Amino acid sequence: MKIREAAIDDTENIKNVYLEAFDHSEAQMVSDFAINLLNENHPVKIISLVAIENNDMVGHIAFSPVYLTSTDKHFGYILAPLAVSPKFQKNKIGSSLVMHGLDIISNTGSFIVFVYGDPQYYSRFGFKTDLSKKYVPPYTLQFPEGWQVMNLNSAVLPEGGKITCVNSLNDPKLW
Ligand SMILES: CC(C)(COP(=O)(O)OP(=O)(O)OC[C@H]1O[C@@H](n2cnc3c(N)ncnc32)[C@H](O)[C@@H]1OP(=O)(O)O)[C@@H](O)C(=O)NCCC(=O)NCCS
Repeated sequence: MKIREAAIDDTENIKNVYLEAFDHSEAQMVSDFAINLLNENHPVKIISLVAIENNDMVGHIAFSPVYLTSTDKHFGYILAPLAVSPKFQKNKIGSSLVMHGLDIISNTGSFIVFVYGDPQYYSRFGFKTDLSKKYVPPYTLQFPEGWQVMNLNSAVLPEGGKITCVNSLNDPKLW
Protein backbone atom coordinates (compact mmCIF):
# COMPACT_ATOMS: atom_id res chain seq x y z
CA MET A 1 0.00 0.00 0.00
CA LYS A 2 1.29 3.42 -1.00
CA ILE A 3 0.23 6.83 0.36
CA ARG A 4 0.60 9.93 -1.80
CA GLU A 5 -0.81 13.44 -2.08
CA ALA A 6 -4.21 13.61 -3.74
CA ALA A 7 -4.52 15.34 -7.13
CA ILE A 8 -7.52 16.82 -8.96
CA ASP A 9 -7.46 13.76 -11.26
CA ASP A 10 -8.31 11.63 -8.20
CA THR A 11 -11.68 13.34 -7.77
CA GLU A 12 -13.91 10.49 -9.00
CA ASN A 13 -12.02 7.82 -7.07
CA ILE A 14 -12.06 9.86 -3.86
CA LYS A 15 -15.83 10.42 -4.24
CA ASN A 16 -16.32 6.67 -4.61
CA VAL A 17 -14.34 5.84 -1.47
CA TYR A 18 -16.70 8.07 0.57
CA LEU A 19 -19.87 6.93 -1.20
CA GLU A 20 -18.96 3.31 -0.40
CA ALA A 21 -17.65 3.80 3.14
CA PHE A 22 -20.28 6.07 4.69
CA ASP A 23 -23.94 5.38 5.42
CA HIS A 24 -26.31 6.54 2.73
CA SER A 25 -27.55 9.39 4.97
CA GLU A 26 -24.09 11.03 5.16
CA ALA A 27 -22.21 9.68 2.13
CA GLN A 28 -22.99 12.43 -0.38
CA MET A 29 -22.34 15.24 2.07
CA VAL A 30 -18.96 13.84 3.22
CA SER A 31 -17.93 13.02 -0.34
CA ASP A 32 -18.74 16.60 -1.43
CA PHE A 33 -16.78 17.92 1.53
CA ALA A 34 -13.67 15.88 0.57
CA ILE A 35 -13.84 17.20 -3.00
CA ASN A 36 -14.47 20.79 -1.90
CA LEU A 37 -11.34 20.60 0.25
CA LEU A 38 -9.34 19.21 -2.67
CA ASN A 39 -10.39 22.24 -4.77
CA GLU A 40 -10.13 24.91 -2.08
CA ASN A 41 -7.39 27.51 -2.43
CA HIS A 42 -6.20 28.55 0.99
CA PRO A 43 -3.05 30.39 2.10
CA VAL A 44 -2.08 27.55 4.46
CA LYS A 45 -1.71 24.11 2.89
CA ILE A 46 -4.71 21.78 3.02
CA ILE A 47 -3.33 18.23 3.25
CA SER A 48 -5.17 15.63 1.18
CA LEU A 49 -3.75 12.09 0.97
CA VAL A 50 -4.83 8.93 -0.82
CA ALA A 51 -3.96 5.30 -0.15
CA ILE A 52 -3.31 3.15 -3.23
CA GLU A 53 -3.28 -0.64 -3.27
CA ASN A 54 -2.41 -2.33 -6.60
CA ASN A 55 -3.43 0.78 -8.54
CA ASP A 56 -6.80 1.00 -6.76
CA MET A 57 -7.65 3.92 -4.53
CA VAL A 58 -8.64 2.39 -1.19
CA GLY A 59 -8.58 5.31 1.24
CA HIS A 60 -8.49 9.07 1.66
CA ILE A 61 -7.83 11.54 4.45
CA ALA A 62 -7.64 15.33 4.70
CA PHE A 63 -6.34 17.79 7.26
CA SER A 64 -7.20 21.50 7.00
CA PRO A 65 -5.85 24.47 8.97
CA VAL A 66 -7.70 25.93 11.94
CA TYR A 67 -7.42 29.34 13.57
CA LEU A 68 -8.20 30.88 16.93
CA THR A 69 -10.81 33.60 16.41
CA SER A 70 -9.18 35.83 19.02
CA THR A 71 -5.83 36.03 17.18
CA ASP A 72 -6.68 34.88 13.64
CA LYS A 73 -3.44 32.89 13.85
CA HIS A 74 -3.03 29.52 12.19
CA PHE A 75 -2.31 27.28 15.14
CA GLY A 76 -3.11 23.77 14.03
CA TYR A 77 -5.10 21.42 11.84
CA ILE A 78 -8.31 19.44 11.93
CA LEU A 79 -8.50 15.89 10.60
CA ALA A 80 -11.59 15.46 8.39
CA PRO A 81 -12.72 13.54 6.53
CA LEU A 82 -11.31 9.98 6.58
CA ALA A 83 -12.57 6.84 4.86
CA VAL A 84 -11.32 3.44 3.74
CA SER A 85 -13.20 1.37 1.15
CA PRO A 86 -15.20 -1.31 2.98
CA LYS A 87 -13.40 -4.23 1.26
CA PHE A 88 -10.07 -2.92 2.54
CA GLN A 89 -11.02 -1.95 6.09
CA LYS A 90 -9.29 -3.45 9.15
CA ASN A 91 -5.96 -3.68 7.32
CA LYS A 92 -4.42 -0.66 9.06
CA ILE A 93 -4.95 1.58 6.01
CA GLY A 94 -6.92 4.11 8.09
CA SER A 95 -4.21 4.10 10.77
CA SER A 96 -1.46 4.55 8.17
CA LEU A 97 -3.28 7.54 6.64
CA VAL A 98 -3.71 9.17 10.07
CA MET A 99 -0.06 8.59 11.04
CA HIS A 100 1.22 9.83 7.68
CA GLY A 101 -0.80 13.04 7.98
CA LEU A 102 0.30 13.64 11.57
CA ASP A 103 3.94 13.24 10.48
CA ILE A 104 3.51 15.86 7.76
CA ILE A 105 1.86 18.26 10.21
CA SER A 106 4.51 17.66 12.83
CA ASN A 107 7.19 18.52 10.26
CA THR A 108 5.48 21.82 9.40
CA GLY A 109 5.84 22.93 13.01
CA SER A 110 2.14 22.84 13.82
CA PHE A 111 1.49 21.19 17.12
CA ILE A 112 -2.23 20.86 17.67
CA VAL A 113 -4.60 18.66 15.69
CA PHE A 114 -8.37 18.40 16.21
CA VAL A 115 -10.73 15.67 15.15
CA TYR A 116 -14.50 15.28 15.47
CA GLY A 117 -15.18 11.55 15.45
CA ASP A 118 -15.41 8.33 17.44
CA PRO A 119 -13.04 8.52 20.46
CA GLN A 120 -12.85 4.71 20.46
CA TYR A 121 -11.07 4.93 17.13
CA TYR A 122 -9.10 8.16 17.48
CA SER A 123 -7.84 7.70 21.06
CA ARG A 124 -5.36 5.09 19.75
CA PHE A 125 -3.47 7.89 18.01
CA GLY A 126 -3.36 10.11 21.10
CA PHE A 127 -6.46 12.26 20.50
CA LYS A 128 -8.06 13.28 23.82
CA THR A 129 -11.49 14.60 24.74
CA ASP A 130 -10.49 16.36 27.99
CA LEU A 131 -7.94 18.71 26.37
CA SER A 132 -10.41 19.77 23.69
CA LYS A 133 -12.90 21.33 26.10
CA LYS A 134 -11.19 24.73 26.11
CA TYR A 135 -11.49 25.02 22.31
CA VAL A 136 -14.95 25.91 21.06
CA PRO A 137 -15.78 24.45 17.64
CA PRO A 138 -17.24 26.76 14.97
CA TYR A 139 -20.73 25.23 15.27
CA THR A 140 -22.74 23.41 17.92
CA LEU A 141 -21.78 19.73 17.82
CA GLN A 142 -24.35 16.98 17.38
CA PHE A 143 -22.03 14.64 19.35
CA PRO A 144 -19.93 16.80 21.72
CA GLU A 145 -18.16 13.67 23.04
CA GLY A 146 -16.52 13.32 19.61
CA TRP A 147 -14.58 16.60 19.89
CA GLN A 148 -10.94 15.68 20.49
CA VAL A 149 -7.52 17.23 20.28
CA MET A 150 -3.98 15.97 20.09
CA ASN A 151 -0.83 17.72 21.16
CA LEU A 152 2.02 16.91 18.79
CA ASN A 153 5.61 17.39 19.93
CA SER A 154 4.51 17.90 23.59
CA ALA A 155 4.42 21.66 23.06
CA VAL A 156 2.57 23.94 25.47
CA LEU A 157 -0.96 24.31 24.12
CA PRO A 158 -2.19 27.82 23.37
CA GLU A 159 -4.97 29.40 25.37
CA GLY A 160 -8.46 28.25 24.58
CA GLY A 161 -11.05 30.05 22.51
CA LYS A 162 -13.27 29.72 19.51
CA ILE A 163 -11.96 27.92 16.43
CA THR A 164 -12.48 28.97 12.84
CA CYS A 165 -11.90 26.73 9.86
CA VAL A 166 -11.54 26.75 6.06
CA ASN A 167 -14.54 27.50 3.81
CA SER A 168 -15.22 23.86 2.87
CA LEU A 169 -15.74 22.97 6.54
CA ASN A 170 -17.65 26.13 7.36
CA ASP A 171 -21.02 24.40 7.21
CA PRO A 172 -23.09 23.50 10.31
CA LYS A 173 -24.23 20.24 8.66
CA LEU A 174 -20.66 18.93 8.87
CA TRP A 175 -20.57 19.43 12.64
C1 LIG B 1 -12.89 4.39 10.44
C2 LIG B 1 -12.13 3.79 9.25
C3 LIG B 1 -11.51 4.93 8.45
C4 LIG B 1 -11.02 2.90 9.80
O1 LIG B 1 -10.24 2.45 8.70
P1 LIG B 1 -9.48 1.03 8.76
O2 LIG B 1 -8.47 1.00 7.68
O3 LIG B 1 -10.47 -0.06 8.84
O4 LIG B 1 -8.75 1.21 10.17
P2 LIG B 1 -7.60 0.35 10.76
O5 LIG B 1 -7.45 -0.97 10.07
O6 LIG B 1 -6.39 1.21 10.82
O7 LIG B 1 -8.24 0.10 12.19
C5 LIG B 1 -7.51 0.11 13.29
C6 LIG B 1 -8.39 -0.35 14.42
O8 LIG B 1 -9.56 0.48 14.57
C7 LIG B 1 -10.72 -0.31 14.71
N1 LIG B 1 -11.83 0.45 14.16
C8 LIG B 1 -12.12 0.65 12.86
N2 LIG B 1 -13.21 1.44 12.77
C9 LIG B 1 -13.59 1.76 14.02
C10 LIG B 1 -14.65 2.54 14.57
N3 LIG B 1 -15.53 3.19 13.80
N4 LIG B 1 -14.73 2.63 15.92
C11 LIG B 1 -13.83 2.01 16.70
N5 LIG B 1 -12.82 1.25 16.23
C12 LIG B 1 -12.71 1.13 14.92
C13 LIG B 1 -10.40 -1.57 13.96
O9 LIG B 1 -11.20 -2.62 14.44
C14 LIG B 1 -8.92 -1.77 14.31
O10 LIG B 1 -8.83 -2.31 15.59
P3 LIG B 1 -7.57 -3.19 16.04
O11 LIG B 1 -6.35 -2.35 15.85
O12 LIG B 1 -7.85 -3.46 17.47
O13 LIG B 1 -7.60 -4.37 15.13
C15 LIG B 1 -13.04 2.92 8.34
O14 LIG B 1 -13.64 1.94 9.13
C16 LIG B 1 -14.12 3.71 7.62
O15 LIG B 1 -13.89 4.23 6.53
N6 LIG B 1 -15.33 3.79 8.20
C17 LIG B 1 -16.45 4.47 7.60
C18 LIG B 1 -16.23 5.95 7.53
C19 LIG B 1 -15.89 6.55 8.88
O16 LIG B 1 -16.49 6.21 9.90
N7 LIG B 1 -14.88 7.46 8.88
C20 LIG B 1 -14.41 8.12 10.08
C21 LIG B 1 -15.28 9.28 10.36
S1 LIG B 1 -14.82 10.09 11.84
